[in-house]
Amino acid sequence: MDNLWKQEYLLDLDSIDDQHKKFFEMTAGIVQLAEGIENDRAIGQIIKAIGGLRAYAFLHFKTEEELLLKYAFPGYLHHTTFHNFYLENMINFETEFKELIKRKNDGDDINVAMVEYLTQMADYVAGWWAEHIVKQDTIYAKYIIEQRKKFGKSE
Ligand SMILES: [Fe+2]
Ligand SMILES: [Fe+2]
Repeated sequence: MDNLWKQEYLLDLDSIDDQHKKFFEMTAGIVQLAEGIENDRAIGQIIKAIGGLRAYAFLHFKTEEELLLKYAFPGYLHHTTFHNFYLENMINFETEFKELIKRKNDGDDINVAMVEYLTQMADYVAGWWAEHIVKQDTIYAKYIIEQRKKFGKSE
């Protein structure tokens, strides 16, 4: 898949949409860094980028969950289970990638395996965001937009 943000992901909630776009940019950034893996500085940058992706997800989920609470979205708890699942996976990715780095530092020639791992991770991440936005975020977005119309609240 192409890892790009698409118009169909638009929820019409400005700050949320901006954050969603940023995930696709960050993911594309990791793929780009992976392509330069031969470079000595690449590994450090990749580790930083993966950590950044996790930290940004944490921030986004916090923003989103606070919004859901503010509007008393009935599916709040169910929605947070998806977020927690994703964060757990991100932590696993970081752990697994650090294992690969350890092997590399021990002298294994695993650049190709690392690029493959990062490409698969990026595909998973972009795929997860696409599916989560379309299948889950759209549900609360519709609810919030309706509530705003009813009660005239702003963001
Ligand atoms: Fe969400
Ligand atoms: Fe979201």
